[in-house]
Amino acid sequence: MGVSPMFSGAVKTNNPGARAMLRSICFYFRPRPANLGAFPRAAFEMREKLVAQFQKVFGRAPEVVTHAPGRIEFIGNHTDYNGGTVLGASIDRGIGVALARRTDGQRRFFSGHTGEIFPLPAGPLQKQGGNGRYTNYAQGVLAALPAFGLHAPEGFDCLDLSDLPVGAGLSSSAAIELASGLAFLEVTGQFVPRETLVRIGKYAENNFVGVPCGILDQGVSGFGKKNHLVFIDCRGPRFATVPLPAGAHFWIFNTHTKHALVDGLYAERHRECMEAAQTLGVALLVKATPAMLEDAREKLSPLAYQRAKHVIEEIARVDATVKALPTGDLAAVGRLLTASHRSSQTLFENSTAELDFLVDTLEQTPHVYGARLTGGGFGGAVMALTDGVFSQEEAQTVADAYAKKFGARPDILHMLTGDGATVL
Ligand code: GLA
Repeated sequence: MGVSPMFSGAVKTNNPGARAMLRSICFYFRPRPANLGAFPRAAFEMREKLVAQFQKVFGRAPEVVTHAPGRIEFIGNHTDYNGGTVLGASIDRGIGVALARRTDGQRRFFSGHTGEIFPLPAGPLQKQGGNGRYTNYAQGVLAALPAFGLHAPEGFDCLDLSDLPVGAGLSSSAAIELASGLAFLEVTGQFVPRETLVRIGKYAENNFVGVPCGILDQGVSGFGKKNHLVFIDCRGPRFATVPLPAGAHFWIFNTHTKHALVDGLYAERHRECMEAAQTLGVALLVKATPAMLEDAREKLSPLAYQRAKHVIEEIARVDATVKALPTGDLAAVGRLLTASHRSSQTLFENSTAELDFLVDTLEQTPHVYGARLTGGGFGGAVMALTDGVFSQEEAQTVADAYAKKFGARPDILHMLTGDGATVL
């Protein structure tokens, strides 16, 4: 599935004064403050770590250092590619990239995950497997740039470090796309609106990596804001931030389970939704109403009916959540989150026994407002929205019950929100 880039007019300059001005007026990151002390400590530490590691691996200093966060899907499951609405939160963990150009055209990657230099073969970009698999996200971005009227650096050394837990469905892929995209643009003196960076990430994922995802992951990583949720109306797309009510806490229970066919199942759900839309006579399910769905029930296969019902009702739940948030009624928000999970469990069928067990247990646990699977599903993690009293001890009790049933312990992460993609 491709997207048509809507924007091609990047502003290009190599003049340092003009670059500073461009950053400050309209573009994708906050200017780096002259006084680094004003920087959040974690970002400052991440920068120092990336610079030191780059120096160690490549024997010189990087030209640019960037960071993009992972995300929690708050509510809006599989609504994005159906043109619906979705709410996500960027977290205070993510992927940092350090980059410097080379003059010999070689493109070399180093990841903290593999601990080795991976040189791309000369010639056209090619999807890599094994230890080079992670380069596919940055390669996808390099391949996307010309489609947006932008150009890629010819040769470079690129290093990435991540503090995102593996396999938790917190979207390390979008984080690496945005952090490397930002680095490629910065180092070549090209400045684009934040929205274009987000679209480039999605284009990379759809066209190079080959996942027909929507814009949720890249949109939240790009537009995230500490103590806020990101609201996306995926039809525009239109991005906005919504304050997170005081006292709202996120806990992630990462099961480390993953269905063997997860990518294929995601694509299958995508296909089922598109087919249901076609039968309903709309371009995307966002255009269908509950009444239209009931009228067409005979024409739809039972599965297509279920998938469409989930999406149509989930979009309504996102809208109800957006209304409930400013009232601070976290109990009402929590009920919507759990209802979203039940719909995934029974209608969209992208949950698993492990995720259902966690939601069931969390539902019975004091200080929990609601819980649901977060992300594509078919394994991964459950997110719980709790009050500030919910503690590590209570989380351990949930993990104990899980371990008793499944023999393995989920990782427990108390997640804080963080800011979106930025040059450090
Ligand atoms: C994955 C995709 C997103 C979205 C979610 C499900 O995270 O990358 O685009 O479709 O699944 O809501």
